[in-house]
Amino acid sequence: MQTIFSGIQPSGTITLGNYIGALKQFTELQEDYNCYFCVVDQHAITVPQDKAELRKNIKSLAALYVASGIDPDKSTLFIQSEVPAHAQAGWMLQCVAYIGELERMTQFKDKSHGKEAVSAGLLTYPPLMAADILLYKTNLVPVGEDQKQHLELTRDLAERFNKKYNDIFTVPEVRIPKVGARVMSLQDPLKKMSKSDPNQKAFITLLDTPKQIEKKIKSAVTDSDGIVKYDKENKPGVSNLLSIYSILSGKSVENLEKDYEGKGYGDFKGDLAQVVIDALAPIQERYNELIDSAELDEILDKGAEKANFTANKMLMKMEKAMGLGRKRR
Ligand code: TYM
Repeated sequence: MQTIFSGIQPSGTITLGNYIGALKQFTELQEDYNCYFCVVDQHAITVPQDKAELRKNIKSLAALYVASGIDPDKSTLFIQSEVPAHAQAGWMLQCVAYIGELERMTQFKDKSHGKEAVSAGLLTYPPLMAADILLYKTNLVPVGEDQKQHLELTRDLAERFNKKYNDIFTVPEVRIPKVGARVMSLQDPLKKMSKSDPNQKAFITLLDTPKQIEKKIKSAVTDSDGIVKYDKENKPGVSNLLSIYSILSGKSVENLEKDYEGKGYGDFKGDLAQVVIDALAPIQERYNELIDSAELDEILDKGAEKANFTANKMLMKMEKAMGLGRKRR
């Protein structure tokens, strides 16, 4: 059976973008693959975090994974910092990566642009992400569009390591969904929806109340021609809302366009808000049962144990390939 690895940062409550671009695919893939899903808390500290808030977000993200349908009997769900091999392998891969290629990452450029104090971790983030993936002999990495460049670097690092030291890594493929790979901001449809956007109206989180969802969708930026039609170039706002509607309702964009012929944005937005509310209701219900439960701790303990077992085997191979440590008698 082929292996899948993917991770989400616990840097705030995850958004509808994370759900559509990543989490929703995960739940479908776990039926056919050996899956590892991770709360990548060590990635989150590459930018400043409030420690109480971070701890809350870590648990909350773990609960949202399960509430969205990740089945701990089928998939391994764990927290990155509970599997020390990630940081150890990340260090080794930093020594394989070149500064130049890390400086070229668009995420690094975006997050460091104009900032005075940029952590070294922000630059060396991609080798840690490569470690996450390569430790599990991952074949396939399901992610949204914005992670494509990091995946290309992961492949380069795996190939470089295999050639330079020993051929131990599986070179992973990226899997980007055909629709929903880039859910856009509700306030600026030319920017991706992001949980770290300072404008709260720009994104919907998985834990937003029906009232908040309604408000945010009603105030989503559209255009002035009043026609519900998919045209990414000229109508980015409406096109983004149509994509979200289509993915969550299972109706095709063409059918939705027909349904809203001659109707204004008011009806369209009202119905879309209901579609989002209905999609999130069962997730929120299960989340509330899980968040303070012993069940969640048990799932995460079991996940960490399984992940440690697999990751440590690869870590030892890496150390041996690079000549670290001592030869045992
Ligand atoms: P993160 O936490 O920013 O996002 C988690 C996942 O959600 C996807 N995503 C989106 N998809 C569609 N539309 C959007 N607006 C949107 N915003 C985010 C992301 O593409 C991602 O799949 N570096 C990663 C975390 C990571 C990881 C890994 C991923 C660490 N190690 C190993 C895969 C494998 C990140 O920051 O994702």
